[in-house]
Amino acid sequence: TASQPLRGLNVLVTAGPTQEPLDPVRYLTNHSTGKMGYALAASAAELGAHVTLVSGPVALAAPDGVDVVHVTTAQDMFEAVSDAFAAADITVMAAAVGDFRVEEVSPEKIKKEGRESITLRLVSNPDILAWAGGRKRDDGSQVLCGFAMETENLIRNAARKLASKHCDMLVANNLREEGAGFATDTNVVTVLTPGTSDLSTPQIERWSKMDKTVLAKRLMLRLAAM
Ligand code: C5P
Repeated sequence: TASQPLRGLNVLVTAGPTQEPLDPVRYLTNHSTGKMGYALAASAAELGAHVTLVSGPVALAAPDGVDVVHVTTAQDMFEAVSDAFAAADITVMAAAVGDFRVEEVSPEKIKKEGRESITLRLVSNPDILAWAGGRKRDDGSQVLCGFAMETENLIRNAARKLASKHCDMLVANNLREEGAGFATDTNVVTVLTPGTSDLSTPQIERWSKMDKTVLAKRLMLRLAAM
């Protein structure tokens, strides 16, 4: 129906930060609050979808009618997404996934006594979005949307991600821009989609500053139309 364009569809959303443990009391993380991803999940549910929200640790309540899978590390998030991805008609990855984890988590608390410095050796985490982009159904019936937050070269980096991660849409936001970023209620985004004739030249639309809830609904409607 007109008010429920996502009725009957499965939507998968990732949101929030990940936490990568160093030892039993410490972890590496980032400033993500999960607001954008939770707003996307809530919008998708309001538009009639069956929604699975894979969420890192955040302080937000589960949106009405959304199945939430709580995860901690990037590896946990990868496993939860790999369980749900094949059934998902629309997947939106808004999580700020930790790119690195410590190679070996210390089983005991790391002690400062007698040490001037310590070295943490980090190894890369799986890129969940790139993994998903590489195993979309062959018939084009799965729509995949990624996010990119950058501090410089926003459009160039976003265009590269759109192509290299095989996304159907890439939502770019600049951390340096007023009204965009992590803990704000608003966002300013540029939406990239693959070019229709020339795939290497994306279509680029700059959207005005808007509330994350309004933005979420517009993005979900756009993805539904795809
Ligand atoms: O390459 P970059 O981390 O900037 O890409 C951002 C996009 O990729 C976001 O959609 C984010 O959720 C996703 N991502 C992911 N797994 C990672 C890193 C990023 O799914 N390990």
